[in-house]
Amino acid sequence: MCELYSKQDTLALRERHIGPSCKIFFAADPIKIMRARGQYMFDEKGERYLDCINNVAHVGHCHPEVVKAATKQMELLNTNSRFLHDNIIEFAKRLTATLPQKLSVCYFTNSGSEANDLALCLARQFRGHQDVITLDHAYHGHLSSLIEISPYKFQKGEDAKRESVHVAPAPDTYRGKYREDHEDPSTAYADEVKKIIDEAHSSGRKIAAFIAESMQSCGGQIIPPAGYFQKVAEHVRKAGGVFIADEVQVGFGRVGRHFWSFRMHGEDFVPDIVTMGKPMGNGHPISCVVTTKEIAEAFSSSGMEYFNTYGGNPVSCAVGLAVLDVIEKENLQGNAVRVGNYLIELLNEQKAKHPLIGDIRGVGLFIGIDLVKDRENRTPATAEAQHVIYEMKGKGILLSADGPHRNVLKIKPPMCFTEEDAKFMVDHLDGILTVLEEVMDFKSGIEVSENTDYRTKMPKEARVELPDLSATKAREIRSGKEKWCVLRPACPAQQKTQDVRAEC
Ligand SMILES: Cc1ncc(COP(=O)(O)O)c(C=O)c1O
Repeated sequence: MCELYSKQDTLALRERHIGPSCKIFFAADPIKIMRARGQYMFDEKGERYLDCINNVAHVGHCHPEVVKAATKQMELLNTNSRFLHDNIIEFAKRLTATLPQKLSVCYFTNSGSEANDLALCLARQFRGHQDVITLDHAYHGHLSSLIEISPYKFQKGEDAKRESVHVAPAPDTYRGKYREDHEDPSTAYADEVKKIIDEAHSSGRKIAAFIAESMQSCGGQIIPPAGYFQKVAEHVRKAGGVFIADEVQVGFGRVGRHFWSFRMHGEDFVPDIVTMGKPMGNGHPISCVVTTKEIAEAFSSSGMEYFNTYGGNPVSCAVGLAVLDVIEKENLQGNAVRVGNYLIELLNEQKAKHPLIGDIRGVGLFIGIDLVKDRENRTPATAEAQHVIYEMKGKGILLSADGPHRNVLKIKPPMCFTEEDAKFMVDHLDGILTVLEEVMDFKSGIEVSENTDYRTKMPKEARVELPDLSATKAREIRSGKEKWCVLRPACPAQQKTQDVRAEC
């Protein structure tokens, strides 16, 4: 494959022409990816990386069936959805067949943000209410309407938050307000939402919607406790609002047993609006909002017409249909169950071995590894997480860290991820944590030095914080031959850096 620019030139040109408009993964030592297939990506030298984070390339990078479907339709016709066409009908039929019956009307859009923005419009139009309840640490998209409801973005400062937006605690039973030892965390967290509704009412405000991811991803791979969504939906509907389930990251079978993650919460829970995106087009920009006839009719009867130039075009729908076909044909949901369970089992063995692992949580191929400095206080191991990620990259494995403390290693690979991939990843994680913990034991009495020799370049703040991970170096430290410092408490500047973290 021909390279237009050398890696160095690409970096310099990117800096000049793109610069701050788009943050890059592994900023201290970015990767130039030239091609990808299945769960693997290849750089300009042909080096292979195991992709453990790309939930957009859902059925595998460049899946031939998806590529073929796009090409074939592109050769024939692409136009907007104001003409009759089979693809949009077929796609809407197939999508709604995966959902509870009352979710029957599809609006096709082009990105997760467009889908969530439209979901807010539908909710606000429905009863004329304006206020939105969102979860702490949530991310719902990059449009201004969504930044307003994304505490992950708007930074939590009281003045940054709009009066019409209310933030409920994330239903995180590991580090949240109510934890696994609480007798009924789902009611406790749902009561927090009820409290917000009551307070809003007492100041004359009205709730249009509660929005949440069915499992919170950017928020740190959080799985809400059973029963929480049912209770929240009851409170919200009583207040005249609707429940929006954001399945942009976690839909399309990622959890394995169900096609939609909200289904994990039981047959008795049906959202009023579901938004979807990322995996839907396997990299092709397509997304959708599905809602009830009642909500859709309330929207159109207001005179509001929704038109989207590209939404639901024949090529996008052909791609979406191909993705659905591949999920089915290759039994990718079955694979998510099998490989996901195996991976969680391997990771739990690592948890028993490594004190740095505080919690393993996940379902199907959506897993989080919560790294802690000490298990008792659950102090987030932020710098360590960054360090692990760079070391993993050095081994050809792509991971990212997220959550409010950036200490949760996120795993959400293409759904064709195999048991061998899982074992490969965990074996390397084991090696990296072993050496890291060995060095951490010698925290006290070690002096500052910056003579590190990483295979992979790290951001300065991670480098001054963390050790050279070679086992020899650790032994030298232990024997007192080497003066090595690494584990100073994180400095505030470092806490602010966002390196291997992204809303994806
Ligand atoms: C949960 C969630 N919702 C919505 C979005 C926005 O999607 P997009 O980037 O396609 O606009 C994202 C993107 O990361 C997301 O994670």
